[in-house]
Parts: sequence; structure tokens; C-alpha cells
Amino acid sequence: MLHAPFFDPAKTYYQNWEEGPFNGFADGVVLPVGKPRFEYLGYKIAYPLGIAAGPLLNAKFVKAALEKGYDVPVYKTVRTRIKQCNEWPNVLPVEVEGDLTLEKAAKGLIVKKDYTEPLAITNSFGNPSYPADVWQKDLKEVVAFVKTRPGQIVCGMIEGTRWEKETTEEDFIDDWVEASRMMKETKVQAIEANFSCPNEGDRVKRLLCYDADMAAKIASAIKKEIGELPLVIKVSYFENQQELRDLVKKTGGLVQGISAINTIPAPVYKEDGTQALPGGEWRLKSGICGYPIKWAGLEMVKRLKALREELGLAFSITGVGGVTTPQDFKEYRDAGADVVMTATGAMWNPYLAKEIKEAYPDA
Ligand SMILES: Cc1cc2nc3c(=O)[nH]c(=O)nc-3n(C[C@H](O)[C@H](O)[C@H](O)COP(=O)(O)O)c2cc1C
Repeated sequence: MLHAPFFDPAKTYYQNWEEGPFNGFADGVVLPVGKPRFEYLGYKIAYPLGIAAGPLLNAKFVKAALEKGYDVPVYKTVRTRIKQCNEWPNVLPVEVEGDLTLEKAAKGLIVKKDYTEPLAITNSFGNPSYPADVWQKDLKEVVAFVKTRPGQIVCGMIEGTRWEKETTEEDFIDDWVEASRMMKETKVQAIEANFSCPNEGDRVKRLLCYDADMAAKIASAIKKEIGELPLVIKVSYFENQQELRDLVKKTGGLVQGISAINTIPAPVYKEDGTQALPGGEWRLKSGICGYPIKWAGLEMVKRLKALREELGLAFSITGVGGVTTPQDFKEYRDAGADVVMTATGAMWNPYLAKEIKEAYPDA
């Protein structure tokens, strides 16, 4: 059921950071944590459900998620240096009939006036980041909190950046390593690496997850830095099975987990046909999430599971995309997801974790 969102799209990212979370995540209700009984990345967790990187901007949001029974929350992507957020608005409702196939995404979507069920939204932040000393201090606080709660863990999400136009490949890899080092210092229980952000505009020609050699170089450099700390890479939907196989072959033995999927990019227009999101032309395309991308997340989980088996690998699979009801969660578990995560669904229904646990006590 639609509630008022805990991240308020009517406010800027910075207002949300300062004042949030809102509504259900600010109601003071604390739900009990179950017994640790599921295995994920070498930890025992109470229930295989989390909130994917994005809506949980800082420690206050992550703490609220833990207290509402999301046992594996991911702290929104951060970088080694400050980076401004894309111009407001950053979240808008979009009209999608049924599944968002790649053909429909290519044609483009129109924004709607209101958020209605089934929920389909676009989000475009550009992975902003507070300075590292700010997010490190903030994250350390909630990591200390989660360590008092058996059955729950917190993941931190990083993204390496090409800070200057002439950034070399070596500088880029170094920035990923630096981000991993900073993230490890927070004592977080696992690191996710964002190999799939679609909202970087023309700064990035091709998503990192589609460049298997570079992805492997970066994953290996990160692992060298973080040692035993688990590493999960977050990937997008792959049209091409050979490319996915190549990525899994080259990175699947280095990482402890693969998370799929990020949003599906599509041009987004106002009703009058003009670009919906303000800023340059590069903002025409924006990531779509919510119910219409569930098909793609489910399909990727099945394909990753088959490849894991075929290649004799052992990484965990995190299923993400379009989980807005308990049944969606179950579909992901049946498809082979070791852990399921929701972003849009949880944003509008803080009690989704409770509903899922009641519907499927054994997951
Ligand atoms: C408000 C919002 C912000 C997001 N920010 C990030 C982010 O910082 N890093 C990232 O990897 N994915 C980000 N995402 C994508 C989600 O992690 C997820 O992959 C995607 O939304 C699909 O899941 P959903 O259909 O449950 O929303 C964001 C999603 C939303 C809704």
C-alpha cells in the first residue's frame, strides 16, 4: 500500500539529508530483529531482505531502516571527494504500461502528475557525495549501532570517479582504491561497488559493468586494498548473454557478491514533449525503477545463478528491481536471489519488510 515516502521527492537531496527521514521512517516504531539464520557474505542475518543503495542517504536513514526490519541496508553511494547533486527534481513519477521492455525504454517515457500504484519512477541524482570526512564519520556511527544488533549488517556503496577530463586509467583505478580504503575505515561489514550508474550523463560513455576487463581490474584492485572484507559489484541489465558471461567469468572469482539490477535508463519527457529533468541534454536519459523493471531483475538473477553453476563459482546473488509487494520478494527468492533488496518499494512503504516477513516467515 502507498504511504507517504521516507525520502521526500518534493525536497532537495540536501534537505532530505539534513531533515529526513520522513513519514513512516520517523514514526518511532521499532520492530524486533529475528534470530540470525540466513547466510550472506559470511555473516548470519535474520532475514534476506535489504534496501538497495539510494534512498538511505545517511546514518539516520540507515538506522530507521534497521529498526523497520530491513536487515541488510546499503548506505547511498559515496565518492572520495565532494560532488554536487544533479539539479532538483531528482525523482519523478513516470507512466509505464506493464513491463518496461527495452523497446519501450528506447521510445521514452512521459512523467505523471502523481505517484500512484503500481509505482514507477525515475531517479537522477548523479551519485552526489558529501566530503569523505563527513560520510565516514556519519557511517561509523551507524556501523557501531548495527554491531549491537545480531542478525543485521550495513553495507557501504562506493563509486570511483574520473575527476578531471584527462584522468588516466591508472588515476581512475586509484580513485576506486582510495574510495575502498576510506570505506573500509568505517568498519562497515561489506562494500558494494557501483559498476552501473546510468545517471552520469556524457561523463561516462559506457557503464563499467559492460567493460569486463576494466571491471576485473578494478575489482581486483579493490580486493587487494580491502582484503577479507566482502566485495559486491552492482551491475545493470545485460542484453547480451556473452557479455554477461564474460563479466562473470572475469570477476566472479574475485568478488563475494553480484547485485542486479540498477535502474533501466530511458529518455524522460514532460507531457508537452520537452525534456522532463532540468540541466543539460545529458539529463534527458534517466534511470527508471519500481514495478516495471522487475522482469529484468528477475531474469538477471536467473542468468547469474545459471552462470555461477556453469562456471563453478560461489558468489552471492543480490536481487534488486521492482520489489513492491511480498509476492515480488518471493519471486526473487524462487529465482535464486540469496538476498533481495528494494529501493522504490520501501521508500513508499516503510512497512514492506514487516509485510514480507509476515507473508513468508521462512523466506
Ligand atoms: C531514490 C533512489 C536513489 C538511488 N540511488 C542509487 C545510488 O546512489 N547508487 C546505486 O547503485 N543505485 C541507486 N539507485 C538504484 C537502486 O539501488 C536500485 O538498483 C533500483 O532503484 C531498482 O530497484 P527498485 O525497483 O526497487 O527501486 C537509487 C534508486 C532510488 C529509487
